[in-house]
Amino acid sequence: MPAKTYSTIAEIYPHMMRSIDYRQWADYILELSGELEIKKPFALELAAGTCSLSKFLWKKMNLISSDYSHPMLRKGEETLQRVCCDMTLLPFKNKFDFIFSTFDSVNYLATKEKFLKYLRTASGCLKDDGLFLFDVSLENNSKKFERYLNRRGKVNGITYQQRSLYNPSSRIHYNHFRLTFDDGRTVEEMHKQKIYRFEEYFDFIDKSDFYVHKCYKAFTFKNADPETERAQFILKKKKIC
Ligand SMILES: C[S@@+](CC[C@H](N)C(=O)[O-])C[C@H]1O[C@@H](n2cnc3c(N)ncnc32)[C@H](O)[C@@H]1O
Repeated sequence: MPAKTYSTIAEIYPHMMRSIDYRQWADYILELSGELEIKKPFALELAAGTCSLSKFLWKKMNLISSDYSHPMLRKGEETLQRVCCDMTLLPFKNKFDFIFSTFDSVNYLATKEKFLKYLRTASGCLKDDGLFLFDVSLENNSKKFERYLNRRGKVNGITYQQRSLYNPSSRIHYNHFRLTFDDGRTVEEMHKQKIYRFEEYFDFIDKSDFYVHKCYKAFTFKNADPETERAQFILKKKKIC
């Protein structure tokens, strides 16, 4: 399936994310996975992008990194096991101990149906006693970063401009990218992320095979609430009697 977004911006993505401390983020994910008490869990990262997080995790987990954008995945290190796939339609027959995605990736699931599909396919690939983690960007995060994400720059001969706009009535956060290459070619990408209400996630999860085991303010072990900027969900599978 052709990637609708993250095709051309793969070229500049590592530069745009240079201020993100992926090592620290990986340590947080590792700490959360510690609950499994498995020395080297069989793990799947969804929407791994350029594998910036995976590169700090692959020695600690038996890890497969996935994303539906081939150009993004291709930027990942050769040592990583990478699979190009849509996180709402996972192609794996094996069951994982641990499935996770980070950095707002689930906000790309712009409808309730897509979100439920995401939960369903993850359930099909997770062991009964496994853990499923994802973080979500909430409205306060959109409000805080909207202005900061209006930026421009130049890297590897590519001039880029990002415009960011959050629409509170549709609850869509738009990020528009314009890239101009040295040869004068211009490419544009529009990214749309749905900013669901905090409570909506609980409603969606109620309709799935999962329950919310924990929900933290991201990077902490404190409970999240509707004012949280980024929430870290930790799901477990419901027991079938
Ligand atoms: C904000 S980036 C995060 C990438 C990576 N997790 C990181 O922290 O750098 C969002 C990623 O989600 C991927 N993505 C969006 N929708 C997807 C889908 N339905 N299936 C798989 N990947 C998806 C995009 O290709 C992109 O790489």
